[in-house]
Parts: sequence; C-alpha cells; structure tokens
Amino acid sequence: MQQAELIERIKELKKKRNAVILAHYYSRPEVQDVADFVGDSLGLSQEAVRQGADVIVFCGVHFMGESAAILCPDKTVLLPEIDAGCAMADMADVPGLRKLKEMHPDALVVCYVNSSAAIKAESYICCTSANAVEVVNSLDADEVIFVPDKNLAAYVATHTDKKIIPWEGHCPTHHQVLREDVLRMKEVHPEAEFIAHPECRPEVLKLAEKVASTRGMIVYAKESKAREFIVGTECGLIHALLKEAPEKKFYCISEYACCPSMKMVNLENLLVSLENMQSVVTVPDDVRERAKEALDRMLAVKINR
Ligand code: 13P
Ligand code: SF4
Repeated sequence: MQQAELIERIKELKKKRNAVILAHYYSRPEVQDVADFVGDSLGLSQEAVRQGADVIVFCGVHFMGESAAILCPDKTVLLPEIDAGCAMADMADVPGLRKLKEMHPDALVVCYVNSSAAIKAESYICCTSANAVEVVNSLDADEVIFVPDKNLAAYVATHTDKKIIPWEGHCPTHHQVLREDVLRMKEVHPEAEFIAHPECRPEVLKLAEKVASTRGMIVYAKESKAREFIVGTECGLIHALLKEAPEKKFYCISEYACCPSMKMVNLENLLVSLENMQSVVTVPDDVRERAKEALDRMLAVKINR
C-alpha cells in the first residue's frame, strides 16, 4: 500500500473506532505526522487523561502505553508494536528496589516514568525529565531513592539539597553520547548551541547551554537567539524541531543517537493495530491502583512550562 493510502485508511479507522493517536517525539517522522498529539512523556500523560476518545493508540514504547492504561482505565490503550520496550526501564526490578528501600527506610522513592508499572507501584511518586527537579524538591523527605536512571538522578542532585540515592540504570541511546562527540561537533559548528537531554552523562550535560526534556528543548530552540543547535538526544526530535522552528538548523549529536524501540511503530503496524484492535495494554488491578497513586501525585506537582 502506498503511504497516502495508508494514511487515509488510518484516518478512516480512527474515526470509526473513536480513537486518538498519541506519539512521542522519537517516533518515525511519518508517524508523528499522522498523530493527533506529539509530545514528551509528561505532555503525553497529560494528554491521555484529557482525551475523550474511547481508544488511545500509543506510538511509543511499552511504559508509555502502560502509563496511559494506568491513568485511563476506562479507555482501551493500543500499542501497535507490543515488543517495543525501553532498555532503561528493563534495568530496574522489584526485588532490587525493595532491598534498596529496606536499606534506606527514611527515603521516598521517585521513579522516572521510564519504568514498568510494577516499579511505579513500588514508588511514592513518578517524575519525567520535564519535572524531575520540581518533583524531588516537592517532597517532605531529606533522602530520595531515584530509579532507574542514574544520569537523570545525578542531574537532579545538582538542583536539590536532598540526598539522592540513585539506581544504577541508564538509557543506552543517551549514555553512549560522549564528551568527545560534543567537542567534535562544537568544532565543526562553532556558532551552534548545544542542547541536551538529562539522560546524558553528567560530563556531557556540563557542556550544554540548555538541559531539558524533549519538549523543553523545542521550546528553548524556538526562543533562543541562536540559529543553529547541536541536538543531544534521540535524533527523532529533529523532525519536530524543524517543524516548529523551520528557519533554524539542527545537527544530531551522533549517527548512533537512535533508539531502535522508538522506531518500531510504523504506518503499517499502526493501521493493523486499528484494524484488529491490537495489542491492548493491560495492567493488573492491584499494580494499577498503586502505580496510579504515584502518577497522580506527579501530575499534581505544578511546574512552569
Ligand atoms: P522526554 O520526552 O519526556 O524528555 O523523555 C525522553 C525519553 O527517553 C522517552 O523515552
Ligand atoms: Fe528508553 Fe532510552 Fe529508548 Fe527512551 S530513548 S525509550 S529511555 S531506551
């Protein structure tokens, strides 16, 4: 089937199913273009709650679909590619987290949304890259266990007086970006500002003019006086950057800054998903209720966006 026909069929089925398509900025460009809403993890969670549709088709990875299913139990959440996991989310496990909690009984657990529903259920509150600092600083505790991203934990630690106890996880896509990559790109593009995602290593973030979530990077690039940017995150963001700031130039930090899981959803499996109503994301009730408390606490934290 040609792309135009695929898009037409997706739009027809979307209407028939009363469905809405949500996509993360790391999705394939053609998937972002057919989506009703494209955003960062915080924006996508907020949008899932806001939407009146019966069906949410999530173009992203498993934890994103799970978050929507936790927040919207009355809606059917579809993930076109059920095997699209997140390597960082897979680095955390419940027995290990329980052990850490036992070792630090006074600490509250903050869990990055890039985690399984079971890890969320073990946590006091969730956060995203857009609100991690505000979430941690909102807590009535001096010690915080931060799971699963050690890089985001280190970034938060530089913006709080609380003691941060990190889980030893990381995002392979962001962690492989090295200081040398940034220095090389800065040499090639001396006029460009370096904008980076807080999942990058601390020594990489030190070189950044701006550290922010994917949405925060777009907002910054639009408002900055700079005309060129080196983009320190997954390269899918460049499609959205060019759409919102077409007059500016964006250079991907490295040809390896690609998350294979985020590219698994394409127009073909998106259409099949809507045709066959598959794959439905489900979370067992006992896990869902506890995980929802952690997500609801996060959504109640006010941030400036
Ligand atoms: P944000 O879009 O929330 O910044 O998250 C990035 C990410 O890693 C999603 O997988
Ligand atoms: Fe997970 Fe990293 Fe891929 Fe985001 S970019 S989905 S954190 S592996």
